[in-house]
Amino acid sequence: MHPNMLLYVENDYGALSKKAANLFADRIREKPAGVYGFATGSTPLGMYRELIKIHNADFLDFSKAVTFNLDEYFPIKRADNQSYYHFMNENLFNHINVTRGNVHIPDGEASDAESECRMYEIKIQQAGGIDCQILGVGANGHIGFNEPGESFGADTRVINLTEMSIQSNSRFFNSPADVPRQAITMGVRTIMMSRSILLICSGKAKAAIFRDALCGPITPLVPASVLQLHPDVCIVADKEAASLLP
Ligand code: F6R
Repeated sequence: MHPNMLLYVENDYGALSKKAANLFADRIREKPAGVYGFATGSTPLGMYRELIKIHNADFLDFSKAVTFNLDEYFPIKRADNQSYYHFMNENLFNHINVTRGNVHIPDGEASDAESECRMYEIKIQQAGGIDCQILGVGANGHIGFNEPGESFGADTRVINLTEMSIQSNSRFFNSPADVPRQAITMGVRTIMMSRSILLICSGKAKAAIFRDALCGPITPLVPASVLQLHPDVCIVADKEAASLLP
């Protein structure tokens, strides 16, 4: 494993969630007005629950934090209960004292998606760049919606969802026909520009891709393998996810 990667292996998902939340809370305490990148998906749910607990018990203050989410379906209404906008409100933002004007999620309702992507990059830069980006990893190694084969040089952009992603996401929608065909995602380059990364990975189903990402060749075929080139990556995994590491 690359020396710039710090790995914590926790017993189970509960312990992983606590560890990741504590590490992230330390970042917020060190830099309350910092810029923080959030992810959706099932992996960070436990971490977000723990962050809410820390906010309530120790008054972890989010009021000065600026946030940017990795991605959003396109097109999708914010009010749609499958939107990542809805996900972030339900699972985190409604329960902490984040300042609404400081929250950024790619706009699934934008009339001009290309300009929304350009503006998103500009807003990240104007905020001073991301201090710490939370990341999950897909079973195929994707980060954000950057699927295998996408360029490491990509900025925030509109992508076509692969048939596999549409099928896999259809479990959350009424039918596959309801799944949006596109998404807006930070590019690999955008993610790599973050000053630090907090990667979380859980479960047996991720063990092989987790090993490939951390210890395999650095290749766009495994988008998460690019993190081996990042100077400051902290990883929290559970034993199952880490079970195939050398
Ligand atoms: C979420 C995201 C995705 C997920 C990945 C893992 O904003 O960009 O890359 O992190 O699909 O998803 P889960 O955690 O559901 O296994």
